[in-house]
Amino acid sequence: MASAWWPCLILALLSGLAASGFPRSPFRLLGKRSLPEGVTDGVEVYSTIINSKVTSRFAHNVVTTRAVNRADKAKEVSFDVELPKTAFITNFTLTIDGVTYPGNVKEKEAAKKQYEKAVSQGKTAGLVKASGRKLEKFTVSVNVAAGSNVTFELTYEELLKRHKGKYEMYLKIQPKQLVKHFEIEADIFEPQGISMLDAEASFITNDLLGSALTKSFLGKKGHVSFKPSLDQQRSCPTCTDSLLNGDFTITYDVNRESPGNVQIVNGYFVHFFAPQGLPVVPKSVAFVIDVSGSMAGRKLEQTKEALLRILEDMKEEDYLNFILFSGDVSTWKEHLVQATPENLQEAKTFVKSIDDRGMTNINDGLLRGISMLNKAREEHRVPERSTSIVIMLTDGDANVGESRPEKIQENVRNAIGGKFPLYNLGFGNNLNYNFLENMALENQGFARRIYEDSDADLQLQGFYEEVANPLLTGVEVDYPENAILDLTQNTYQHFYDGSEIVVAGRLVDEDMNSFKADVKGHGATNDLTFTEEVDMKEMEKALQERDYIFGDYIERLWAYLTIEQLLEKRKKAHGEEKENLTAQALDLSLKYHFVTPLTSMVVTKPEDNEDEPAIADKPGEGGDSHTGEPRHDLPDQLPASSKPLLLCGWGPPLHHPSSGERRRPLLQHRR
Ligand SMILES: *[C@@H]1O[C@H](CO)[C@@H](O)[C@H](O)[C@H]1NC(C)=O
Ligand SMILES: *[C@@H]1O[C@H](CO)[C@@H](O)[C@H](O)[C@H]1NC(C)=O
Ligand SMILES: *[C@@H]1O[C@H](CO)[C@@H](O)[C@H](O)[C@H]1NC(C)=O
Repeated sequence: MASAWWPCLILALLSGLAASGFPRSPFRLLGKRSLPEGVTDGVEVYSTIINSKVTSRFAHNVVTTRAVNRADKAKEVSFDVELPKTAFITNFTLTIDGVTYPGNVKEKEAAKKQYEKAVSQGKTAGLVKASGRKLEKFTVSVNVAAGSNVTFELTYEELLKRHKGKYEMYLKIQPKQLVKHFEIEADIFEPQGISMLDAEASFITNDLLGSALTKSFLGKKGHVSFKPSLDQQRSCPTCTDSLLNGDFTITYDVNRESPGNVQIVNGYFVHFFAPQGLPVVPKSVAFVIDVSGSMAGRKLEQTKEALLRILEDMKEEDYLNFILFSGDVSTWKEHLVQATPENLQEAKTFVKSIDDRGMTNINDGLLRGISMLNKAREEHRVPERSTSIVIMLTDGDANVGESRPEKIQENVRNAIGGKFPLYNLGFGNNLNYNFLENMALENQGFARRIYEDSDADLQLQGFYEEVANPLLTGVEVDYPENAILDLTQNTYQHFYDGSEIVVAGRLVDEDMNSFKADVKGHGATNDLTFTEEVDMKEMEKALQERDYIFGDYIERLWAYLTIEQLLEKRKKAHGEEKENLTAQALDLSLKYHFVTPLTSMVVTKPEDNEDEPAIADKPGEGGDSHTGEPRHDLPDQLPASSKPLLLCGWGPPLHHPSSGERRRPLLQHRR
């Protein structure tokens, strides 16, 4: 259910205007006193506006930055935006002195040749890559003639997922200089009605923000605005550097008078399902923990810290065991045991005594955990109405016993037999994350990367909290037969407290006047069916004001979800099936203008054809599609306490040419 792919994105700007070598202006901070307010190295960014429109969890964000070159020679102007890895860029345009260069989404292969040609000519302009935990960074630089101005406009869309009872939207703010007109505007429209809404900035307290930040909600509409004046942006009353540097987070949730909500617009529907107040289903958890030599020291200490806190949260109805693997496998108890106070006490003592040793035998560790869960069920050691979960944590690749990834995957798949989910936690960067992710996805779970940082124990605990409270198992969402086409995933092994199941599709008959959906699942005490009947007239009334936000949001939401799920399925597919999935995902990406790992955005000058473009694309987590090299996440620059965010900002060039180096301009415009 979590988005499990972590693409990065590359942008290259090429230009036919850049016929001859034009020296890139060396970046140098000029004496601040001699410059007008908000001008850095001759470039004034006079406006940055982030406009977010959220309709039924589907967010459409437009980041617009305007700058003018006040120097007496050409300058390079950069535009950086950090956006969530789960978002798709849908548009990017450049406007230089009133001439707009629009973006078009193309199949990656078609754009690749142009990209390679450009790279061979040294024209690569920017790189977008993983930045921090959940972000990727979009960077582009253009050469702007003296006195000219430039407007960057980036649009991206994402479906906000519900975690721990709320939807969260992150914006990373880092203008790097004072900006005359800086503004964040978010409008939220939720047909179910908004139950809470908050907004906060990590770089300043709400008190100090005073009138700069306003937030309000009433009925179906919520609004957040952040508009600091130049003086409010200063890091001190006489400073010329900006205080704005950090996370801006908007959180909200909606009313849930009924467990589900269906919305239909223009023949597309979306069904949100999140029942409240159900008892938690007891669970049996096999914790399969890597204790190989590489875990020694802080990683093992943090893992132990996290396990101790997880033990605090275990409920008496739950069952558990620890399976430790290194070169071989050992377990705390022979079987799963109930989480009674006495057993938990003993478990804590055991966890504290865990030591590191030897090699990494992932295969045997996992198989032992899985067979223990299977056996407990066969031998009726655990309650009939309970669910099983395997949580595996490792920091490296298998190197003893069965160490071929495909073989381990096959063994695990056969052992689990689709009966329960496997969650894989990859600790640090020194491992084959694709392998862990594929294996988890094949077994209805997901993988998470745990970043080596001071808060690794909190990351582990946070992951556990998400899966700690299953309210339903074996969830199946059914619609009337022959009434629906192109349905997104409609079965889920678990519904966890604080999350939400989202299913979308297309109606065969756009004019049908009633719509019914059944959600079935196994609860803690009995089997449940939730029926949602939609009266089309009522629903149309509820959505009446939607146009105030944006038009075909359900169709786009459906396309977003479908592409996301096709890309996920594609990861574990082979041969013809993989080709089919790829073809479907590509078609939809092109049709709906999404920059996905299969497409690139080509920015073309309006007056000519496509051989002088800029390209933006989004390779998958596995590596850079252009170089084929495995990609490792950048070291995490975020302070441990900060949340991953969407960053938006403008700054001086990121890369400075070494002395004497002359580079071609990326996109150059001279009056
Ligand atoms: C991209 O943005 C430009 C500028 O706002 C707009 O004119 C164009 O229609 C957009 N393209 C798409 C496909 O939305
Ligand atoms: C920027 O360009 C636009 C259109 O070319 C023009 O109207 C505007 O005055 C320019 N602004 C500045 C600050 O140069
Ligand atoms: C691929 O798609 C075609 C037509 O869309 C279908 O007939 C075929 O069975 C699919 N093959 C696989 C392996 O899914």
